[in-house]
Amino acid sequence: MKVHVWDIPTRLFHWLLVTVFAGAFLSSHGDRFLEFHTSLGYIALGFVVFRVLWGFAGNRFARFSGFLKGWQSVRGYVASAARLHPPRFLGHNPAVGWVVLFMLAMVASIAISGIVTYGGEENRGVWAGVFSFDAGYNARVAHTLLADLAIAVVVVHVCAALFHDFLLRENIILSMFTGTKEDEDTYAERVSHMGPHEVRSVLRLIVLVVVAVMGGLALLYLRPAGRTDFIHMPQPNVVDDKGFASVMKVNAAWMEECAGCHNAFHPTLLPAGSWKKVMMGLNDHFGEAVTLDAAVSEEIGRFLLSASAERSTTEASRKLMRSLRDLPAIDRITDVPYWKAKHEDIDAEVFKRKSVISRSNCIACHPGAELGSFEDHDIMIPE
Ligand code: HEC
Ligand code: HEC
Repeated sequence: MKVHVWDIPTRLFHWLLVTVFAGAFLSSHGDRFLEFHTSLGYIALGFVVFRVLWGFAGNRFARFSGFLKGWQSVRGYVASAARLHPPRFLGHNPAVGWVVLFMLAMVASIAISGIVTYGGEENRGVWAGVFSFDAGYNARVAHTLLADLAIAVVVVHVCAALFHDFLLRENIILSMFTGTKEDEDTYAERVSHMGPHEVRSVLRLIVLVVVAVMGGLALLYLRPAGRTDFIHMPQPNVVDDKGFASVMKVNAAWMEECAGCHNAFHPTLLPAGSWKKVMMGLNDHFGEAVTLDAAVSEEIGRFLLSASAERSTTEASRKLMRSLRDLPAIDRITDVPYWKAKHEDIDAEVFKRKSVISRSNCIACHPGAELGSFEDHDIMIPE
């Protein structure tokens, strides 16, 4: 006879969470899917809240009180599982009960750290403006570490389910779809007719586990890394004196006058003091004399200050400001400690290539340089 074990809400929760997790993983790279990705985060958090409530309201197999067992039972279960003789439980076994709670906490932490990142770094979402950029940045580090941990936990979870199938000879993955399991007698009756595992089924198990582990590793290393679609990419946000953020408006005079001898160095790449120094010293500009009409020079100066590194919300600006701290106004981006640290591993030979010409030719390797974009996945070092 079959017993009804997993109620419909528990099963729906399980498979919808799998779907949302997969969707969040696939949309995790690049800003193009960021909105979709964050929506999935809110949904996942909603699922966790639901599951916690269902842990009090669900049937006896879904309730926390039904599957969170004391230390003695956990230890006893783990010991027998280690001897490859785990007892059979209709619901969650004592070890996996706590794993369920751990996974719920993990998904919640991933979602919350994601929302903090979104609020702090992008100034968007329900916590926009609540967290500083630095808090957002730290939350992002936690978010990616937790997401990688989650992939590892998923692999262990799938392997454990396969082991369970193998050791106890019942298809628990199928019962997460159907909701039913055999009762004690039917199960004991069926298993008593089965001989020892044949070599073939041992091999099958090993292949399945290897596939699960390799799949997990592939997920970790082959994160989808779509390149940015520059045509649709906006300029970064800059914050004005009143603290209002808006998309930077490109100044035509700047493009006209400062993007002839070299690529237009993005205003977000130097602090205001440095731009003042550059603009004051144009008559001896790195060995060249740049002559500008006074009005044009003033307009460009104002533009550069309106979007200088202090005012920009990009990762590069924040990090280079942090690295500058007490240094006097530097007029070369390539002298900023953050720039040097990021490029110290690149061979001097690379910068001399005809396709690169110089360190200052950012756009050769960063196609989004004039949009103030230096994302890792867009970097291309030309031959
Ligand atoms: C007449 C040519 C010329 C014009 C016009 C010009 N520059 Fe330059 N600029 C140079 C040269 C040459 C360098 C040094 C490049 C190198 O060392 O590879 C330089 C370097 C720079 C650097 C330092 C880059 C680094 O290595 O970090 C900045 C910043 C800069 N220019 C800003 C400006 C701005 C702003 C304008 C417009 C007002 C401008 N430049 C217009 C010739 C020019
Ligand atoms: C020869 C190619 C090359 C040139 C030229 C170059 N870069 Fe880079 N840049 C790189 C590479 C490669 C990295 C990645 C380094 C790493 O993360 O290990 C990088 C990283 C960066 C980063 C950090 C990106 C991140 O998110 O980690 C910034 C910002 C940056 N470059 C700005 C500039 C600017 C500004 C210029 C011009 C003044 C410039 N780069 C010139 C190759 C180049």
